[in-house]
Amino acid sequence: MSAERLQCITCSREYDIMEVRYTCDCGGLLSIERTGLVDRDAFDDRLTSRADIDRSGVWRFREGVLNIDKVVTHPEGATRLYRRNGLLFKHEGENPTGSFKDRGMTVAVTQAVRVKATAVACASTGNTSASLAAYAAQAGLKAIVFVPSGKISSGKLAQTLAYGATCLQVRGDFDAAMRLVREACDRLGIYLVNSINPFRIEGQKTIIWELLQDLGWEAPDWIVVPAGNLGNTSAFGKALREAHANGWIARMPRLASIQAHGANPFFRSYQGSFETRHRIAAETIASAIRIGDPVSHDKAVSAIRETLGVVEEVTDDEIMSAKREIDGMGIGCEPASAATLAGVKKLRAAGVMKEGEQIVCVLTGHILKDPEANYRAEKVVEIDPTIEAVERVLV
Ligand code: F0G
Repeated sequence: MSAERLQCITCSREYDIMEVRYTCDCGGLLSIERTGLVDRDAFDDRLTSRADIDRSGVWRFREGVLNIDKVVTHPEGATRLYRRNGLLFKHEGENPTGSFKDRGMTVAVTQAVRVKATAVACASTGNTSASLAAYAAQAGLKAIVFVPSGKISSGKLAQTLAYGATCLQVRGDFDAAMRLVREACDRLGIYLVNSINPFRIEGQKTIIWELLQDLGWEAPDWIVVPAGNLGNTSAFGKALREAHANGWIARMPRLASIQAHGANPFFRSYQGSFETRHRIAAETIASAIRIGDPVSHDKAVSAIRETLGVVEEVTDDEIMSAKREIDGMGIGCEPASAATLAGVKKLRAAGVMKEGEQIVCVLTGHILKDPEANYRAEKVVEIDPTIEAVERVLV
């Protein structure tokens, strides 16, 4: 067995890294584990390199992600960190296809090529599908996406189709599409690249590692993330666990996972100290996180526990008002991403987040991803093409 292996998070059983499987025979989720410590000095040295593999904010950390040098990279990552109104915003919408999904997708599609897959598939609320389609196009693989019919933004659907994916619009919600794609991949031998695929998680860890590097390896007090299928929450927990174990940071930041009130199964579980796993029919304006049965639940529970993290819920009104605030800073994001700022407001008001603490909100998707959510009719005035008409409005 190589230094990198698949390991069940429930029963610890190990499988070879080249085996195509997403869960253990016992039903537990799989995680990629490696032996030995990883040094962070090379990560800093690579910041001045011009090679794609080093410029990628994922593969710059390859010894802790997937230790190979033949990769499918755009390159991705290397996103900006904005300082505004006493908060930090790491904007993952600045990835090549406009969302954080590219960080996981570069690794999952690299692995798909490595295991000689010819087709890749996912269920998606729109961002994973766009990312999958782009990376599959680059790698020359057939891309098939399963989306909940009528429930994803027009921008994301059009983007996915433009990159050349075949789109199956499932009459049902995201959770139904997720169940269906798992069955289809098993039966038809298609490589599944949802975040149940542990290679996706390895790539998404680098959101945190790049953030820590941005901060000179000084951990912030809080990292805030929107939570849907719980891939990111899981990846963030693993990234922090490994950064701490490898001695890259001296202390653990706390995670805050934020759900929409109408799509809050993880929040409900948290309220009951994670004794019960909840599954619900989800509804929220933030279509990216309209998910009722998150597949990475078990990994996300560990992430919250190990970081002394919290889970919060926010209403659609709170999400949209936070979005307008982020847009008004000149940064902008899609609705799901704004759950972070809405969550910070709520957690500050409750005294959980304190004055003077350093808080980083991870903005997961670009402002142009959800055009419908951006349009503000009250800002538009239709006029005749005359200077008098202009003056009537402006003077
Ligand atoms: N923010 C955005 C913009 C997303 O697209 C997603 C998930 C999340 C947050 C939630 O992340 O699932 O790791 O908890 N989008 C998936 C998709 C479901 O299909 O694009 P998570």
